[in-house]
Amino acid sequence: MPARMAVPKEIVSGERRVALDPTMAERFAKLGAELLVEKGAGRSAFFPDEAYSKSSRLIDDAKALYAEADVVFKVQAPTLEEVELLKDGATLLAVLLPHRNLDLVKRLRDKKITSFAMELIPRISRAQSMDVLSSQAAVAGYKVALLAANLASGFFPMLTTAAGTIRPSKVVIIGAGVAGLQAIATCRRLGAMVEAYDVRPAARQEIESLGAKMIDTGVNAASEGGYARELTAEEKQKQADVLARHIAAANAVISTASVPGRAAPKIITQAMAEGMKRGAVIVDLAAESGGNCELTRPGETYEHNGVVIAGPLNIPSSFPVPASEMYAKNLFNFLSPMIKEGALNLDWNDEVIAKSALTRDGKIVHEPTSKLV
Ligand code: NAI
Repeated sequence: MPARMAVPKEIVSGERRVALDPTMAERFAKLGAELLVEKGAGRSAFFPDEAYSKSSRLIDDAKALYAEADVVFKVQAPTLEEVELLKDGATLLAVLLPHRNLDLVKRLRDKKITSFAMELIPRISRAQSMDVLSSQAAVAGYKVALLAANLASGFFPMLTTAAGTIRPSKVVIIGAGVAGLQAIATCRRLGAMVEAYDVRPAARQEIESLGAKMIDTGVNAASEGGYARELTAEEKQKQADVLARHIAAANAVISTASVPGRAAPKIITQAMAEGMKRGAVIVDLAAESGGNCELTRPGETYEHNGVVIAGPLNIPSSFPVPASEMYAKNLFNFLSPMIKEGALNLDWNDEVIAKSALTRDGKIVHEPTSKLV
């Protein structure tokens, strides 16, 4: 029997993305699944109901949608109220952030929901096309560079005008993962002089290939799976001494450093921020997990001693069209191999499926979360 796959409207305040755009809804429908979309689900991402109506049945409200759904696609984790609307035994795909949402995990377990936390998809080559962390970080990195250019007090590019030549801005980017690299590329396209820093030595080649200069602090914190580990006190001091000089000379600092599952490392101290030029700007993409700068106030942009400090939250949502399209493609690449004649047939021997599952058959199957509960 074909599975009924549903897309509710996101209800978290300020969330503008939608889990499936009309193109991916159509691709799922072509596999034989029955698609249900809540009316208005795509509106804030500029996808009107009519764009879905070719492939999907439009449903008036969330309650009616959930009542029919075998599979639910979401961006944000559902609220406890939304979980109550899910049919027992349904399948849910969303960014679930289990360590922050333990009550939700327990409810998903008790309702025997098969839930997949999209952010847990293993970072192996085969799963790159399903990697929502990467797709949303790429969006965030681009946007954060534009935000920095917008908040900066000077031009990013060198300008030669009749009124004289203006020097390009110096931008320092801290953390050269997916978001940081995209920010480097965007700042370079805008003509800024870019220096970047990451604790993983592998980042050097990527930084340099984008035309930026690597700031060398002599600290190497590469760890398993391509991620960074937390630094020792001595390493932090060494890093701080070198970075302070580069930050003091910058017109803009964009920070994107994070360590999975932990609060963001504090890299830009108050003293470093106060040592910056007047009119300089810090845009802290890590504000979501506490911020890389000691002065960041998550969700706020304010001025401190003539330096603008911005801690934007949920940046991908502010660019909802590409963010939704990329997220939807990640969902499709993840789930479509498991759909046979419209029915969902999960292969639990598949590493990607097994490792991204959070709850299944009344159990929490993600070990770190199970320990927390
Ligand atoms: P992330 O968002 O967890 O962290 C961002 C960056 O901050 C990382 O590059 C990290 O090294 C850096 N960082 C952490 N602590 C720092 C500190 N104290 N100072 C300076 N920088 C610090 O990481 P993201 O962007 O999700 O991925 C990081 C890397 O993982 C990628 O560059 C890539 O090498 C690898 N990766 C592999 C994938 C795959 O094979 N499927 C997919 C995506 C990423």
